[in-house]
Amino acid sequence: MSTIIVVGSQWGDEGKGKITDLLSEESSIIVRYQGGCNAGHTVVKGEKQYIFHLVPSGILHEGKKCYIGSGVVIDPASLLQEIEDLKHQGIEVEGKLFVDSKTHVVLPYHKILDEKKEEKREKNKIGTTKRGIGPAYIDKNARCGIRMSDLIDKNILEGKLKTNFKEKNESLKKLYNTEITIKEQSSILKEYVKYGQSLKKYIRDVSLLVNQAINENKNILFEGAQGTLLDIDHGTYPYVTSSSPIAGGACTGIGVGPTKIDKVLGITKAYTTRVGEGPFPTEMLGEMGEHIRKKGGEFGATTGRPRRCGWFDVVVVKYAVRINGMDSMAVTKIDVLSGLKKLKICTSYQYEGESIKEFPSDLEILKKCTPMYEELEGWEEDISQITDYDNLPMQLKKYIKRIEELTNTRVAIVSVGPRRSQTIIREKVFK
Ligand code: GDP
Ligand code: IMO
Ligand code: MG
Repeated sequence: MSTIIVVGSQWGDEGKGKITDLLSEESSIIVRYQGGCNAGHTVVKGEKQYIFHLVPSGILHEGKKCYIGSGVVIDPASLLQEIEDLKHQGIEVEGKLFVDSKTHVVLPYHKILDEKKEEKREKNKIGTTKRGIGPAYIDKNARCGIRMSDLIDKNILEGKLKTNFKEKNESLKKLYNTEITIKEQSSILKEYVKYGQSLKKYIRDVSLLVNQAINENKNILFEGAQGTLLDIDHGTYPYVTSSSPIAGGACTGIGVGPTKIDKVLGITKAYTTRVGEGPFPTEMLGEMGEHIRKKGGEFGATTGRPRRCGWFDVVVVKYAVRINGMDSMAVTKIDVLSGLKKLKICTSYQYEGESIKEFPSDLEILKKCTPMYEELEGWEEDISQITDYDNLPMQLKKYIKRIEELTNTRVAIVSVGPRRSQTIIREKVFK
């Protein structure tokens, strides 16, 4: 019986949703620990494709519990829409999904501030998802946030909102020449009181529930959103999100002690992608980037924006192994590389004539790094229906082996397509 953290080892969109769904089969509980509806986790089941923004990717399985930890920020409209969409598709969420009472809430002013701040940043835009995530975490840290438990008490909510509206209007007027009118304020209050009534039945002490399940020796999956390089502390700051996607974030984001974590599984794309702005050493700007984007369907699951594509970057993944304490990896989307004659793996960076093997913590250095590549042979075969590792093309196995050697991490899972059946399990993740 074990607890496993599923973490993105690059800049997000590695296929965390697919792998979480797959491993949910063997788990009793699946818990999201950070981020908000900026995430887009895609799961393909049968003929249907589901995109989860807040609901954990285990929800499609019968008899499992799905929790949202207090490290997440919840836009109630988005959560209710997701619940409604799932119901329409015959997936019952009630009695299965629970949200921590301490979870912070995204309000309309967070979205306004997210948009206005981005508009104002002229040269150094972050390229946020405009879901109000950054401003919601700002309020959490400034200790003026609204939490799920506040939504169910109209008087408490009204009092807190009144103070916040006053403060937000001061900066909205001063900085952006706009404000939240009295009429808007009263409709926001009404709207959020209604959300509270609708979501009341989902609110619980998730930290307590998870720790009880740990004591009962249940298998539990902790599902990260975004990725290591988007982490507020360890990512490519300021081109990051405002939460802690790294494995350590699961402990704070749920309320679980580090001694209770058994394993960290890194989800690693067989190449690299990034949405939004910020340095990306192995980015392919020409035809090859276009080819991968098209073949891999590399368009944001939340915003539809084209994802920037690049070669596999060992410096990045090695960094993720270190920061997360990754025990093993699931390498996804390797089928997208089929048909390419040559493949490149970035093994180090060149900076001012020197070779760098560790990911630079200084963004100004990273911006000036040139990737140094090792070239490997590609393979022609369509591998998307192969279920046995031994039957994969020899060149593909060499590619995986090289990744294992260079990152010093075992590749336990190889994903060859979006479906559950398109997965090669080399090593069981849950013992
Ligand atoms: P997440 O945010 O990490 O959950 O990843 P996304 O869902 O945003 O992006 C991954 C995309 O790749 C989704 O459309 C998945 O259905 C798809 N996908 C996942 N694994 C594979 C794979 O092995 N091969 C292919 N071709 N697609 C995959
Ligand atoms: P999943 O969970 C990829 C990126 C945005 C932007 C930066 C900050 O699907 O992997 P934010 O709205 O969070 O303030 O934006 O982070 N970003 C993601 N990129 N996958 C995600 O989630 C992302 N969530 C946020 O594009 O660059
Ligand atoms: Mg995604």
